Amino acid sequence: MASSFLRIPTISSRTLETPSLPSLSSSSSKFSPLSPHFHHRHRRSATVLRLSCSASADASPLPSHSLRRRPQYIPNRIPDPNYVRIFDTTLRDGEQSPGATLTAKEKIDIARQLAKLGVDIIEAGFPAASKEDFQAVKTIAEIIGNTVDESGYVPVICGLSRCNKKDIETAWEAVKYAKRPRIHTFIATSDIHLKYKLKKSKEEVIEIARSMVRFARSLGCEDVEFSPEDAGRSDREFLYRILGEVIKAGATTLNIPDTVGITLPSEFGQLIADIKANTPGIENVIISTHCQNDLGLSTANTLAGSYAGARQVEVTINGIGERAGNASLEEVVMAIKCRGDHILGGLFTGIDTRHIVMTSKMVEDYTGLHLQPHKAIVGANAFAHESGIHQDGMLKHKGTYEIICPEEIGLERSNEAGIVLGKLSGRHALRDRLNELGYELDEEQLNNIFWRFKAVAEQKKRVTDADIIALVSDEVFQPEVVWKLLDVQVTCGTLGLSTATVKLAEANGKEHVACSTGTGPVDAAYKAIDLIVKEPVTLLEYSMNAVTEGIDAIATTRVLIRGDNNFSSTNALTGEVVQRTFSGTGAGMDIVVSSVKAYVGAVNKMLGFEERSLPRVSSESSKVPA
Ligand code: KIV
Repeated sequence: MASSFLRIPTISSRTLETPSLPSLSSSSSKFSPLSPHFHHRHRRSATVLRLSCSASADASPLPSHSLRRRPQYIPNRIPDPNYVRIFDTTLRDGEQSPGATLTAKEKIDIARQLAKLGVDIIEAGFPAASKEDFQAVKTIAEIIGNTVDESGYVPVICGLSRCNKKDIETAWEAVKYAKRPRIHTFIATSDIHLKYKLKKSKEEVIEIARSMVRFARSLGCEDVEFSPEDAGRSDREFLYRILGEVIKAGATTLNIPDTVGITLPSEFGQLIADIKANTPGIENVIISTHCQNDLGLSTANTLAGSYAGARQVEVTINGIGERAGNASLEEVVMAIKCRGDHILGGLFTGIDTRHIVMTSKMVEDYTGLHLQPHKAIVGANAFAHESGIHQDGMLKHKGTYEIICPEEIGLERSNEAGIVLGKLSGRHALRDRLNELGYELDEEQLNNIFWRFKAVAEQKKRVTDADIIALVSDEVFQPEVVWKLLDVQVTCGTLGLSTATVKLAEANGKEHVACSTGTGPVDAAYKAIDLIVKEPVTLLEYSMNAVTEGIDAIATTRVLIRGDNNFSSTNALTGEVVQRTFSGTGAGMDIVVSSVKAYVGAVNKMLGFEERSLPRVSSESSKVPA
C-alpha cells in the first residue's frame, strides 16, 4: 500500500457531506461538543463504532473498504472538504522539550520516517535558532523535500520564523530547496503578550504581521503560514482583524495556537467556528490548530477544532513539546481514523498508520524522552490486558476490550505471554520477528543484534518482544560513533573504594584505557570515561528501568548531560538563548555496562552535534546566511 493512501471504510453518502458545522452567519455561532446535537450524533454512532475499528470489525457486518486519496496539494485550498492535513512539528516544537536535542542526522532520520508515515507538512525546525538548526532544516528540505514517491507525494518542508525580516529570510534560505517550501511566521496577539512581552499596540502588531507576511511572499514563497501566538487568550475582534489583514497580505494557512493550553474543547471548537464565521477572506485559506497540552486537553481540543472546520492539525510524535507537550500525532490520527466517519462527519487523513509504532520508537530513543507505559496508542501497556475479566473477554473476542488492532499501528502481537524466541532461534526467526515488530534492519545491523540476542538467550529462558526492542534501540537508534566502548571492568562493595577501568576506541580504531575511583561503580566508570574523552561534561540526570520482570531483566539507562557553552540555541517563543542538553540511552543485562553505554552515547551525541554530522549536499547550497 502506497504511503499516500489510507485504508478506511467506504464513504457512505452521509459521510461524504461536509461535516455539519456551526452556522457561519452569526458572530456567536454555536459550536459545542456538549450540545444535545452532539450527544445525539454520538449516541447514534456508538453502535457503529465497530465498523471503523478493525479489532472489532468482525462483530458486525463489514463495510466494504476503499482507498481514499490524498487530495492534490494546493497551499490555500484542499480539493476534498473532509481531508485533514497533518502538520508534524516534532522537529521544531518537539525538539524544544527540555533535553530533547537531536543531532542533524537524527533529525533527517526522523524526517524520513515522517515521510513514510505520510505527514503532509514537516516543520523541520526554527532556522534562525542557530547555524546547526539552519543547516538541519536545509538538509531536510534538500533530501526529504525532494523525495517524491510513486503517487506524487512529497511532504511540504516548513521553517518557523518570528515576524522579522532576518528570521524570515533565514527560514526561506533553509526551506527554498524543497519542492514544496513553506514559511511559518508568528507574532503574539493576546493582551498579556502585547503588554508585557512585545510592549506594542494592537495596531503596531497588525502592521508587523501584515508587512512580514507580504515580505515572505515577496521572497518567492507561495506557501505562507501565519500564527497569532496565544490566540486562545486573544481578543476575538482583534483576531478577526489581524487574520483578515494577513490573508490580504498573502497568507495561505492561518494557524490558531492555544499556546498555553488553557482552552477546553468546547471553547476551542467555538474559537475555530467563530474565526471561520467572522474573518474576512477566510474561505480562501486553510485553518489550522496548534494545541498545547497544559491541561491534558490537546488531543480533545485538536479534534474539536477540526470538527469545527480546521483542516490542518499541528501535532508531534508521542505528544512531545514545550512544557506538557503538544497534541500527539498518533492520538489525533487514530481518533480520526476510528471515529472520523461517524462522529466527525467524515474527516480523514493521509497517514499510513502502520508506521506509527516505529516512528514513536525512533522519536523516543533519539530524544531520550521515555513514554509512560499507559500512553494512549503507543505506550507499552496500550494493548496489555492484565485483569482476569479482561483477559477472559479478549480470549472470547478481541473487540470486547480493544478498539484498535495493534497491527493497524504497526504492532504485531506475539503469543499471550509475549514470548517469541529462545536460544535455539536462528537468524531468520529473529529477522521475521523484527519485521513483524516494524524494524527493517540491514545485514550488518541484523548481525550485530543477532549476536547480542544470542548472548541474552544464553542467559534467559524467555526472550520477549520487550527484550528484543531494547536491544534494537541500543544498537540501531544510536548517535554516530565518535567513541566506541570496548571494555569496562569495575570493583565495588563495602570493603573499599569503587574503581573502574574503561577501554574506549576512537573512530580511527586507536584505543585508550583509563582508571578511576568513584562513589560507586557507575560514578567511577563515568570519571574514567571523562579522563579519556577530555570534554567538560555535567551529568544532569540518570535513570534506569528494567525492561522485563525478574532478576535476568534487561536494564535500560537514560542519562542527560550538558557540555561547555558551545552548544546553544534560541528559543523561538521566548527569544531566550538556551544551552543544549544531550541524552543517551543504553541497554544490557549488566547495569554498569548499560549505564556506561548510555553515557558514551550521550557524549557521542554531544560531540557529533556539530555540522560534521550532516550528510554533505552541494557546496553552493550549504551557505549559512549571516
Ligand atoms: O505554541 C505556539 O504558539 C507556537 C506557535 C509558534 C505556533 O508554537
